[in-house]
Formats: sequence, C-alpha cells, structure tokens
Amino acid sequence: MSSHQNNFHHFLSCKAITAFLFTLFFCSTTQAVLIDDEEVPLHQVSAQECRLCHMEIYEQWKGSMHANSTALADPIHRAFYKKVIGDPTREGEKMKNGKYPVCLKCHAPNAAQDKKTKLDAMPAYKEGVNCLVCHRLKKFKGTRLSNGKLRLGIDAYEVAESCQGPSGFPTSFSQHAEMAKKAHEGEEEKENPHRQKPYVSDEEADEMILPLESNPEMLKTSAACLGCHDKRANSHGVPLCATGDEYVAGRTHVSCQSCHMPVSNGFANHSMGGGHDAATLRRALFLKLDATKGEKDIKVTVHIRNQQPHKIPTGAPFRNMVLKVTAYDQDGKKLWENFKNHPAKEDPKSYFVYKLLNKEGKPVPPPKATQPGEDTRLNPYERRELSYSIPAKNVAMVRAELYYNLLWPSLKKKLDFLPKHLKESKLMAFSEQHF
Ligand code: HEC
Ligand code: HEC
Ligand code: HEC
Ligand code: HEC
Ligand code: HEC
Repeated sequence: MSSHQNNFHHFLSCKAITAFLFTLFFCSTTQAVLIDDEEVPLHQVSAQECRLCHMEIYEQWKGSMHANSTALADPIHRAFYKKVIGDPTREGEKMKNGKYPVCLKCHAPNAAQDKKTKLDAMPAYKEGVNCLVCHRLKKFKGTRLSNGKLRLGIDAYEVAESCQGPSGFPTSFSQHAEMAKKAHEGEEEKENPHRQKPYVSDEEADEMILPLESNPEMLKTSAACLGCHDKRANSHGVPLCATGDEYVAGRTHVSCQSCHMPVSNGFANHSMGGGHDAATLRRALFLKLDATKGEKDIKVTVHIRNQQPHKIPTGAPFRNMVLKVTAYDQDGKKLWENFKNHPAKEDPKSYFVYKLLNKEGKPVPPPKATQPGEDTRLNPYERRELSYSIPAKNVAMVRAELYYNLLWPSLKKKLDFLPKHLKESKLMAFSEQHF
C-alpha cells in the first residue's frame, strides 16, 4: 500500500477536524480532495485511493489497456510515441509543430490537463486512463469543431471536480459496502467518501471527500467512450482510428458499455477487452465452414458475420485478421492450403486490413501515410462469404481458422524488439468439416 493511500485513509478517520476543514474547503471555489491535509485536484488522485473499497473493479482496470495506455506501460504505444514525440519521462516534449503532444489527451489525460509530459512525475499521470479520468467526465462536447478540426480526448469533455457515477445512488451498495467493511475491520465507524446513506452517520454529514454525482447521460451512454474512441487522423489528415464513424454507420442503439462492460459478479466489469484480449476476440464473430464434396473438387464456403456495431478489426489501423483454410488427409497430412506465407499476395480476400499509403501508393506506417488505401475489414454487422475450390482427392477434413494480429507483418518485423505475445497471432474462431 502506498503511503499516499495510508495518508488518505488516516485522513478518513480524523473526523472532527476534517469535517470542519471540508466545510471550509467545499464552500470555497477551489474544488479538490483533501489528502493528508493537502489539496489534491481530482485529476491528480491515484486509482490506489479507490482500490481499498472497489478492489475487484481496481483489479479489472489494472489489467486493462486503460491502465496500461501510456508510453511507460504499453510497448507498442511507446515505440510510436518515442518516434513521433520523444521521451515519456522528460518534461517539455513537443510535437513537430511545437504544440503539446496530442497523444497524451487520450493516452495520459491527467498529465494533459496539467500540460505536463513527464509521465512518471506522479501516479495519476502514469496510470493513464485511470478511475477519475472517466468518473470526472461531466459532459460530452463532441469531437468535431465547425471548422472541420478535431477536439480530442479530454478536450472533448467538460470535466467535473466531483466523482460522476452512472446512478449516483446505491445500486450496488451491498457489494461495495461489504468490501469497505472488510477493509476497515476493527474501526468503529465505516466511512463512505461519497457520503451515501446509510454509511455515514449524521454528525459526519459534512464530511464530503469524494462527492458523488448522478450522471447517467454521461456514464451509461457511448458518450463516455467517444471522446477518445471516435476518430483520429495523422498529421496529413489521413484517418487512423475511426471506431466512432463506424459505429454511426452501424446505425445501432446499443451502447459501447453493453458489450465492453458486461455485468459480472454484480457490477459493471472494467476489464474492457479489445485486440489485446484473447477472450474478447474469441467472442467477436461468427464463423462457419460449409463444404460439399464432388467428384473432383470440394466446394467450400466460409461464412463470417460481424455482430459488432463497429468494424472488425476496429481501432488502430495496423490491426488485421487472416483466414486460413486447410485440407488434410486421413492421417492429418496437409494436402492443400489457401496460402503458404501470407495471404496479402497469395489470397488477398482472406486478409482483412486497412492499408495506409504514401503518395506513390506504397504501404507505409501510420505517421507517414498521405492517403488511405484499400479497406477489407468487416463492416459493422456485415456478413461475408469466402469461397474456395479444393481438389477432392484423399481429403478427409477441411478446416477454416481466423487469426487476429495487433500489427501488420511489416510492423512486426520493424518492431522486432517487442515482447513475443504482442507479435503472436491469436485464434479468434475455427470451423471444420470431416468426410
Ligand atoms: C472507503 C470506501 C470507498 C472508497 C475509498 C471509494 N469508494 Fe466509491 N463507493 C463506495 C461505496 C460504499 C459505494 C456504493 C455506494 C454507492 O453506490 O454510493 C461506492 C460507489 C462508487 C461509484 C458508483 C456510483 C454510482 O453512480 O453507481 C463510483 C463511480 C465510485 N464509487 C467511484 C470511486 C472512485 C473513483 C474512488 C477513488 C477515487 C472511490 N470510489 C473510492 C466506497 C468507496
Ligand atoms: C474508461 C472509463 C472508465 C474507467 C477508467 C473506470 N470506469 Fe468505472 N465506470 C465507467 C462507466 C462507463 C461506468 C458505468 C457502466 C454502466 O452503468 O453502464 C462505470 C461504473 C463504475 C461503478 C459502478 C459499477 C456498478 O455496476 O455499480 C463503480 C463503482 C466504478 N465505475 C468505479 C471505478 C473505479 C474504482 C475505477 C478505477 C479502478 C474505474 N471505475 C475506472 C467508466 C470507467
Ligand atoms: C480518456 C480517453 C478514453 C476514454 C474516455 C475511454 N478510452 Fe478506451 N482506450 C483509451 C486508450 C488511450 C486506449 C489504448 C491504450 C493502448 O493500447 O495503449 C484505450 C483502449 C480501449 C480498448 C482496447 C483494449 C485492448 O484490448 O486493446 C477498449 C475495448 C476500450 N478502450 C473501450 C472503451 C470503452 C468501452 C470506453 C467507454 C466506457 C472507453 N474505452 C473510454 C482511451 C480512452
Ligand atoms: C456488440 C458488442 C460490441 C459493441 C456494442 C461495441 N463493441 Fe467494441 N469490440 C467488440 C468486440 C467483440 C471487439 C474485439 C474485436 C475487434 O477488435 O474488433 C471489440 C473491439 C473494440 C476495440 C479494440 C480495438 C483495438 O485496437 O484493440 C475498441 C477500441 C472498441 N471495441 C471500442 C468500442 C466502442 C468505443 C464502442 C461504442 C461506440 C464499442 N466498441 C461497441 C464488441 C463490441
Ligand atoms: C483521440 C484519442 C487518441 C489520440 C489523440 C491518440 N491516440 Fe493512440 N490510441 C487511442 C485509442 C483509443 C487506442 C486504442 C484503441 C484503438 O486501437 O483504437 C490507441 C492506440 C494506439 C496505439 C496502439 C497501441 C497498442 O497497444 O497496440 C498506438 C501505437 C498509438 N495509439 C499511438 C498514438 C500516438 C503516437 C499518438 C500521438 C501522436 C496517439 N496515439 C494519439 C486514442 C488516441
């Protein structure tokens, strides 16, 4: 446990003095939390402060890419950040145009609010998209300005200096209360920093530490996500990520939360899996192989269905999928495959990718692209059929496998130093038929 947290909870127990201080404090215009007698604005409060009572949510978040979104924690982001911006542990880093690094508005929003670039300066910076990044979002202003420019990440929101909750009242009270009780075993009074009854006695009525506000419009809708997940272009105006545009094209009424924050164990899960998460990938789409054996050939149709209101793969432009179709004989010997090395040239229809090109039309990494190339990813709710004709002789089984890659093959090579698990293909789905 950090000393910061110790101090916080030590503070929680000093009721008499703090009740007075708080009254003073919250009546003044500076809105902040008081930790160990020091004013701390909410965007500098570490997730550690929430851990004690929201243990399970903390652990889910800790393992998510939100907690690992900075160049200090995410090796892929670091590779690009170092190239485009510089050193994440140095103050005063700038973009080529001399402006504050736009990346941090989404990848390290607490540092961005202070216009700082030394991300190891405090836990709340290092934690990237931490609890109070999302639970401070008050209103979504939208990402598009009338002049066509984008207003990204934390800039797309009005932020509050109180904790914003989906309900603002004790929906999951018993669970959190139970955790808080355990954490405070042995103490005579159990404090709730959000001051929710029946957790706080009357004398403590002024003890507002993390005042909680009900904001379902923000937290129960996709607005909670779109400030950072809507759209981004590189410095040449070429769209990179566009999950928001895809979602609009999907014409859905389903919120991001309904898939990315399912209820588990009584509350909204904060793991928020995507391309880094094998379990999310396995649930992503429907895949079914149908094969009919004729005299000479086997006609194979692979049915793929995207059940998401955004593309698959969505997000970072270098995400891609590969469909592998293979035929085997009775002894498991491979007789036929749709490609040997990579489908890009050998079987382009089985490569699902968004290409980025330079002026000459050659594929290039995201920062260098001057035009979008072909986009063969699955559109929202798209059903696609891929057909193959395989020589039938001795074939006992045909199999289709769909693999996900975080990076293009060229980037895997270029970023050879990355840990193995980030370069490995992950199996999303398979289907087979025996004869
Ligand atoms: C000492 C215990 C404790 C600490 C520390 C704590 N909470 Fe809570 N929190 C609770 C309890 C108990 C509830 C459930 C009661 C309720 O729903 O208001 C709750 C509820 C919430 C809710 C849900 C409100 C809703 O609208 O449903 C949010 C959001 C929240 N906390 C955020 C935080 C954040 C962020 C931190 C850290 C900065 C934090 N909490 C620290 C005890 C705590
Ligand atoms: C990426 C944004 C994001 C981050 C980061 C985040 N939350 Fe949440 N949280 C949400 C949203 C959105 C909801 C509302 C889900 C819903 O009701 O659909 C929520 C709900 C909650 C709830 C109420 C859960 C329930 O079902 O009753 C609590 C408590 C909570 N968050 C605490 C935390 C804590 C503690 C952290 C950090 C360890 C954290 N959150 C990090 C977005 C976030
Ligand atoms: C303040 C900005 C911000 C907000 C708000 C935000 N995210 Fe994220 N999210 C990020 C960043 C940055 C990453 C990428 C981290 C990385 O890979 O380095 C990310 C990554 C993800 C991923 C990918 C995980 C993976 O496995 O690669 C998913 C899924 C996701 N967010 C869902 C959501 C949802 C759902 C919401 C709304 C409830 C939300 N995010 C709100 C910034 C944000
Ligand atoms: C019907 C369920 C569903 C809904 C609704 C949904 N998603 Fe997803 N999302 C998925 C699945 C499954 C994946 C994994 C496959 C993939 O990466 O495309 C995913 C992947 C992602 C990723 C990972 C991208 C990466 O680079 O790793 C992000 C970011 C994301 N979703 C954001 C959102 C946002 C933002 C919304 C709302 C606008 C949303 N999703 C709505 C199911 C859903
Ligand atoms: C508008 C918000 C936003 C901005 C600005 C932004 N990013 Fe991201 N970035 C995201 C989100 C969200 C994801 C993860 C989900 C996805 O793939 O869309 C992501 C993912 C990435 C990834 C992939 C990480 C991984 O683990 O695979 C890299 C690399 C990256 N960003 C680099 C950058 C760089 C460098 C900058 C600044 C020049 C930047 N980003 C600016 C939101 C943003």
